[in-house]
Amino acid sequence: MFLELDGQGPLYDQLTRALKASILDGRIAAGTQLPPTRELAHELEISRTTVLAAYEQLRAEGYIDGRVGSGSFVSHLQARPLAHHVSTDIDAPSRYAERARKVRNWDIPRMHRGLRYNLEYGYPMINPTLNNAWGRELARAAVYTRLNAVELAGLGVLRKQTCDYLARRRGVQAEPDDVLIVTGTQQAINLAARVLVNEGDPVVLEEPHYFLAHQALAAHGAELVSVRTDEHGLICSELPEQSPRLIYVTPSHHFPTGAVLSMQRRLDLLHYAERHQCWILEDDYDGEFRYDAHPLAALRSLDEQDRVIYVGTFSKVMFGGLRLAYMVMPAALRADFLNAKYLTDMVCPVIEQAALARFMEDGGFERHLRAARKELKARREMLIAGLKEHARDRVEITDTPAGMHMVVWLRGYDAPRREALVAYAHEHGLGLHPMSPLYARAPERQGLLLGYCSLSVNELREAMRLFGQCLDYMEQA
Ligand SMILES: Cc1ncc(COP(=O)(O)O)c(C=O)c1O
Repeated sequence: MFLELDGQGPLYDQLTRALKASILDGRIAAGTQLPPTRELAHELEISRTTVLAAYEQLRAEGYIDGRVGSGSFVSHLQARPLAHHVSTDIDAPSRYAERARKVRNWDIPRMHRGLRYNLEYGYPMINPTLNNAWGRELARAAVYTRLNAVELAGLGVLRKQTCDYLARRRGVQAEPDDVLIVTGTQQAINLAARVLVNEGDPVVLEEPHYFLAHQALAAHGAELVSVRTDEHGLICSELPEQSPRLIYVTPSHHFPTGAVLSMQRRLDLLHYAERHQCWILEDDYDGEFRYDAHPLAALRSLDEQDRVIYVGTFSKVMFGGLRLAYMVMPAALRADFLNAKYLTDMVCPVIEQAALARFMEDGGFERHLRAARKELKARREMLIAGLKEHARDRVEITDTPAGMHMVVWLRGYDAPRREALVAYAHEHGLGLHPMSPLYARAPERQGLLLGYCSLSVNELREAMRLFGQCLDYMEQA
């Protein structure tokens, strides 16, 4: 129990005052049992007689009930609120804090409360089989992991498993020494900004873009340069003349449109980076979820100049709350990335890393991946079938057989009409989320980002029926 004695007068008076103040402030709630006198005396290093005297005084004044021996309980009094004068602002926030306030001012509307079907991007697939398997791995790791086995770049076993996985699935050749385990793609982006970007340095982002990359880089103070994308991904011919420091791209599955960066553009991008001596951050966030054929090899696999910082995450394959991802670091940046990681948070949590390494080693990870891919494919097919049946030609689908989300463009909609559709759908229990916040400039057409990962096939069927009804309503309105 935290009690501050004020040093004024006899000890038992001091203790009585401190306890009264805590009771009146509500810090010790009504009904709470006070510690036994012997225990409190020991804790405060005072005599038990002093504590007994203080308790007697409090009892006499009605602050506590009960008798010595049977426990002393705080009476039900009207507590007065803490007299803190808390300011909600600080005089001089850092430039970072100011910029972060600005970029975090907007958010993709989170309107999920009370919705029957929410097509919000980023919601996880509920998977009890994974939860159980993960629970077992965690329990085991908690017992067997050497807790002081701290390795700055991440546990060696996990880096080794990551390299095997990358070679097998993504065509990326890397040694464990090239790999840095980080707490999510978000940390990788922040580390890249720290290591490579000064305030005011140009950084290229795709248009439309991944909102959290945009926010992190803007808060860091980068001068963001948006380069358009089309159905083949980033339009490399529109990259700026002035050399940027960094280019952030999602080549395997552009976020959010789903475009796959064509081979010619991959080569163009690598040539550009070489010519301009800049770095590429390849965010391969859901490269493992392709439903047509084998996943495309990562851009990093074509990188002969060692200019691509490759980032992959376990957030999509496992779940976002895991907060584990990995970077493949170009040799020239390795020491700086390790410094930045150490000074940020030293290392990632060891037990989770050990559990994940074993999950990968014993095949559970691959089994889960296969099952998740099958389920997501079925959900995606249902979404498309539902759109074709209920939305028909009123929407245009961007159909890349990959990932956990899809974009549909609304035909004949301007921004106010799209807003009205989203509001109407929301009123009727359907969460729709516009594309516009993902653009640096106002988009030419109105679209919706449909995250289908968290809804079952049956739910998606119903959601699409409801979507069709919303579109019907808008036609009549
Ligand atoms: C484009 C993109 N990159 C990365 C991530 C994953 O980020 P993290 O690894 O920080 O969870 C996501 C997930 O939502 C994403 O959409």
